[in-house]
Order: sequence, then structure tokens, then C-alpha cells
Amino acid sequence: MQRHAPEAGRFITFEGGEGSGKSTQAGILANRLARAGRNVLATREPGGSPASEEIREALLSGRVWQFGPFAEALMFAVARADHIEGQIGQALHEGKWVVCDRFLDSTRAYQGATAGVPRGLINALERLTVGGLLPDITFMLDIPAEEGLARAAERRSGNVPDRFENQELTLHERVRRAFLDIAEEEPDRCVVIDASQPEAMVAEDVWEVVLQRLSP
Ligand code: TMP
Repeated sequence: MQRHAPEAGRFITFEGGEGSGKSTQAGILANRLARAGRNVLATREPGGSPASEEIREALLSGRVWQFGPFAEALMFAVARADHIEGQIGQALHEGKWVVCDRFLDSTRAYQGATAGVPRGLINALERLTVGGLLPDITFMLDIPAEEGLARAAERRSGNVPDRFENQELTLHERVRRAFLDIAEEEPDRCVVIDASQPEAMVAEDVWEVVLQRLSP
């Protein structure tokens, strides 16, 4: 009997600033793909594997920040390497559709463009962690920083902001600009979506692109 190689998986990531709705949209897309009969891994960064979820806690609490932006970039890289090795790589190999809430562009935008870790170092970390594993599609959910922060504050409902949410507005604006710049540099991979729209309309825009590009 002839054996066929398993169909390759697909890799879709969501990026955006605080309160851009990417976690919600990643969840909606994962459900839609599952309803379309696809085997889906819905995951997130930092985190996604048991060890990386522990690193997430250290990063978001601000404990790593005391060592500076390069240490933070290193820790995101450690978490990403474990996530790829333990979850993403295997899932793609099995033909799953991986939907990930944040990935390498967040390191470029937050640690690189915003916290000032030089591009050469960010590139070196990418080579070590991600290698050639780029997403098939990256959705950049774009929203003015002030609007996003207001949404994030509403969602927190009185809980303290994490180390990143707590940054000043100009830094959030820089993050937004950085994502848009990446999208401009890599138009084949990245799609900018207007995240100020109602949730259902954002979800429709996302689904249209997935249908066109990946025919699930
Ligand atoms: P989240 O709020 O989307 O769950 O992400 C947690 C925070 O981590 C978010 O404020 C952005 C930050 N982050 C980085 O700074 N660099 C990274 O590489 C990743 C994945 C997240």
C-alpha cells in the first residue's frame, strides 16, 4: 500500500498592541477552522508550553525587567524555543493548523523597536529560536494605542496592569508603528486588519484572508 506523507500543517499568528482583540480573534479563528474540519492547536506566547508559561509569569510580573531589555529578549527567546520544540513543531508535523496569539513579531516590536535591543541581536535570536519557521499568515490587528489601552483597562476591571500594559502611551504608539513597519516590509506574510471595527467584522476580515490564502 502506498503511504502518503502527512499533509503539512499551517501556521497563523496574531499580533497587535494591548487591547487590540487578538486573543479573541485567535480564538474565533481556531473555532472556525475546527468547524471546517481542521485539526487545530490554539496557543499563545509568551507561554504555550508548561515551562514557557512559567517564564510568562516572570516576564509579565516585571521580574525579568530588572535585568534590562536584552535579558527580556533572551527570556522571550527561551520561552519561544521551548514552545516550538514542545508544541508548534510537532503540531505542524502532524498536519495541524496552529493559531498562535503573538509570536516573533512581538519581540521585534517590543524588545527591538521599542525597548532598543539592536536589530542584529534580535535577528540572531530569531535564527536561534525560529530558524526558518515563519508563519504562513500574520494578522496585525491595528488600533490606536489610546483606544487599545482603554479596552485593556476595561477588560482588567480594576486588576493591576502587567509590566507591558504599564508602559507610557508613547511606547505603545511605538509598538503600533513597529507592527505596521513589519507589515510593510513583509507584505506576503503580514495582513493589517482594522481592529477598531466591531469584533464580528474583524473576524470576517480575518476569515476572508484565510479562505483566500490557505483554502481551509
Ligand atoms: P499578551 O498581553 O498578548 O498576552 O502578551 C503579554 C505581553 O508580552 C504583551 O504586553 C507583549 C509582551 N511580549 C513581548 O514584549 N515580547 C514578545 O516576544 C511577546 C511574545 C510578548
